[in-house]
Amino acid sequence: MQYKALSLGLIKNHLTNVVKYKIGDEDLLPYFATLYLTLRCNYACTFCDDGSAKHKYPDLEMDELSTGKFKKLLKILKKSAPSIYFTGGEPYLRKDLLELCKFSKKIGFKPVSVNTNGLLIGSYPEIMDNVDQLVISLFTLDPKKYAKTIQKPEKCLEIVKKNIDLARKKKNLMLTINCVVTKDSLEDAEEVMDFCIKKNVNFAIVPAMVGCYPDKDLFHNKKYQNLINKVISKKKQGKLIFNSYKSLEVMKNFKKFTCLPLLTPHLYPNGDLFYPCQLLKTKVNLLEIGDYKKAIKEGRKKFGSVPKCDNRCHLSCYIEPGAMTINPLNLLKL
Ligand SMILES: C[S@@+](CC[C@H](N)C(=O)[O-])C[C@H]1O[C@@H](n2cnc3c(N)ncnc32)[C@H](O)[C@@H]1O
Ligand code: SF4
Ligand code: SF4
Repeated sequence: MQYKALSLGLIKNHLTNVVKYKIGDEDLLPYFATLYLTLRCNYACTFCDDGSAKHKYPDLEMDELSTGKFKKLLKILKKSAPSIYFTGGEPYLRKDLLELCKFSKKIGFKPVSVNTNGLLIGSYPEIMDNVDQLVISLFTLDPKKYAKTIQKPEKCLEIVKKNIDLARKKKNLMLTINCVVTKDSLEDAEEVMDFCIKKNVNFAIVPAMVGCYPDKDLFHNKKYQNLINKVISKKKQGKLIFNSYKSLEVMKNFKKFTCLPLLTPHLYPNGDLFYPCQLLKTKVNLLEIGDYKKAIKEGRKKFGSVPKCDNRCHLSCYIEPGAMTINPLNLLKL
């Protein structure tokens, strides 16, 4: 996370949450909402799963809200969450992505972010002018490996790299490359980091998850730990590393951390809000309930309080928001 991504609404919710956490109030306010616009995808990445380690996103079928209903959902969310993060599946497969980004800006979400595999960015260039942050996934620079992992033709990598250059030209766009790492792509991840440094683009690293847990092949893996050390050292040199020091330290040894999932609520394309988190699969429908706070109450009534989990879910979106809420001094370790 970087200071650039902070907005007034976010700061307000953060200050409130620091107090709420101290006094033991479970009803923490969200920093950003992650909205899955679709579970359809034009790739079929071998590492991608829906958190259950059984289902692949592109294989999952799910009703998707119409543009009008998504707008209604966004309005409901805006009353509680200051920023929005569109993901999927591949969000660029929604023909109304531009309209939803424009609408999100109009109703005041800040930042508006889109997470994409990057293949279709050049086909819809206007989207880049209507979001604050674009997060593009890239895990290797080797065309053969890329094709094998996404299960699509090699030429996709060239297109994605061209699209990264297109995005770099947008002055008001914050661009981040998100790099999922598995035991078979440790060297690739380092190359992607060097590529980002050369291009002056933010680099974020994430250990591949299998279901709720990090890929076990990364546990006690010296090469993986060395890679994270290199990321830390590049960050210390002032390179654009998006992960905070805190999350890099946690993900290096898969240390236990306190998870506060209500800080980053996740919603599926049919309006379902996961309570307490996507990984536990329990949910209530926000569009039907019509109010975020009521939906959380309903979730708690049905599924109980947020559990104290074991050592799992080492994703930045869970580590960083919790760390800065529990101890605001962690903000200094961004
Ligand atoms: C599920 S994808 C959806 C957005 C878009 N299709 C993409 O790939 O960027 C969201 C993010 O999760 C990452 N991701 C996918 N599978 C993962 C896994 N098993 N563990 C950790 N991150 C994963 C992707 O690299 C991407 O940055
Ligand atoms: S592009 Fe994204 S959603 Fe599609 S399969 Fe790959 S990681 Fe999953
Ligand atoms: S660690 Fe957090 S995100 Fe993972 S299952 Fe537990 S509450 Fe959910």
